[in-house]
Amino acid sequence: MLPVVAYGHPTLRKVSQEIDKDYPDLENLIDAMFETMYESVGIGLAAPQVNKSIRLFIADATQYEDEIPEARGFKKVFINPQIIETSGEPVSLDEGCLSIPLIREEVTRDNTVRIQYYDKDWQFHDDTYNGYVARIIQHEYDHLEGILFTDKINPLRKALIKKKLNDISKGKIKVDYKMIFPSQKKKLTRSY
Ligand code: CO
Repeated sequence: MLPVVAYGHPTLRKVSQEIDKDYPDLENLIDAMFETMYESVGIGLAAPQVNKSIRLFIADATQYEDEIPEARGFKKVFINPQIIETSGEPVSLDEGCLSIPLIREEVTRDNTVRIQYYDKDWQFHDDTYNGYVARIIQHEYDHLEGILFTDKINPLRKALIKKKLNDISKGKIKVDYKMIFPSQKKKLTRSY
């Protein structure tokens, strides 16, 4: 399992770079990302969250396929994705993020997304998704642009969770998966 980068870490704020077929160990990275996502009980994970500033994210919503029809078979790898447009009714729903543990806030997103991407076999797709999976895609895609869901919540709520976000940055949280916290300084071990 890969450690997950926590809120406040600079990698989460970078715009990620496209990759090509020669990207080293891509298959292993994708496998490790799936393992990390399942271990930390997430339904989506973007490469910046495992400290890789590349345009890659994964998602698996199949655990919800009984309740949410659009989740059926939705286990996917998105490489070099490009959102062409979002459309439809804006919908508000609680979101969470593996990089921002224990915080859930309402985020408004368009109901439909059209996205072009390559899958893990480098097959090109131009697909349109609706509802819950469109939300997952938009959340993960934002990670590639250096955007977090807490950037999209209302300012009053943001002010209310400011201390909690600070605590996450400092590693002052209990979380049962491995994380990289931005403010953990290396201990000075040299004597002089
Ligand atoms: Co996230």
